[in-house]
Amino acid sequence: AFQPRVFSGIQPSGGLTLGNYLGALKRFADMQDEGNFETIYCMVDLHAITVWQDPETLKRNTRELCAGFIASGVDPEKSILFNQSQVPEHAQLAWVFNTVARMGWLNRMTQFKDKAGKNRENSSVGLFAYPALMAADILIYHATHVPVGEDQKQHVELTRDIAAKFNHDYGVDFFPITEPVIEGAATRVMSLRDGSKKMSKSDPSDMSRINLTDDADAIASKLRKARTDPDALPSEIEGLSERPEARNLINIYAAFADMTPEQVLEEVGGKQFSEFKPMLADLAVSKLSPISSEMSRLMQDQSEIDKILRRGAERAREITAPILAKTYDIVGL
Ligand code: ADP
Ligand code: NA
Repeated sequence: AFQPRVFSGIQPSGGLTLGNYLGALKRFADMQDEGNFETIYCMVDLHAITVWQDPETLKRNTRELCAGFIASGVDPEKSILFNQSQVPEHAQLAWVFNTVARMGWLNRMTQFKDKAGKNRENSSVGLFAYPALMAADILIYHATHVPVGEDQKQHVELTRDIAAKFNHDYGVDFFPITEPVIEGAATRVMSLRDGSKKMSKSDPSDMSRINLTDDADAIASKLRKARTDPDALPSEIEGLSERPEARNLINIYAAFADMTPEQVLEEVGGKQFSEFKPMLADLAVSKLSPISSEMSRLMQDQSEIDKILRRGAERAREITAPILAKTYDIVGL
């Protein structure tokens, strides 16, 4: 049996959104505080460079992401918090997994298709092989659970396939079959301008997303201008099935308030958006303002952030070094 251990990561590719917060960071802090798991969280800079990054900006974004983790409630004393490239066993295990994963498996990954688009032939090999590195990120800790947003479900399934094939091919029971944890009201936060698209830092319209660095006025104005429909809110969840924009705002409210969408509708059913949007804005500002001010405070002392990351990497390596050594031994290296 494997000990209950959580791993997850976020790319330091700039600009954390409300989607990253509600779908990932808030859940990371919750799982840390629930105390059922050892929790390990990572800035995945090796993933970020699968698409070209300006080197100085990448360094800055990595520190800002670390500040975002801490400001969101991830405590570097309670969780292991570090930067992927400082723990070389991630990349070393990824190479082994490149030999386990099949071309056909990677060919089916929808995120690669989305990110590469028509530019497939000119995409980096790293962008294609990304899921094998993600499997290594998880399995180098023998992590049993991975909290992620819905968009990452397919990659966690691939991680399970890699673990199972490795165990089978070498006749061992060495890697766990990791469970994705996709829970809560905000596993897929949608764009504020288009309810069919995921809220994302790469959307060209800044009005489509709330950034963790937005001030109170920006948050309120983006929510006030969020696309909705003219109808009042229903009191039953079924009433939202054909109303993706309304559903999204209810989900966001629920996630901030630690409620279910059903409970939110019990309170706000019958209200017009002109009344609900200011309630949502007040709630969002009250939860996000402390995070953005804590982020800017932490960013004033970058050497302190670097110290936290170095210490986190040392703690991570106490776990990864023996697992890599054992993997190499199993493989015959
Ligand atoms: P992004 O998708 O913004 O480029 P990452 O790929 O690094 O960021 O994802 C970091 C985490 O944030 C993942 O667990 C991902 O599922 C989650 N996430 C990203 N966008 C959203 C969203 N719109 N809603 C819910 N979770 C999200
Ligand atoms: Na993502």
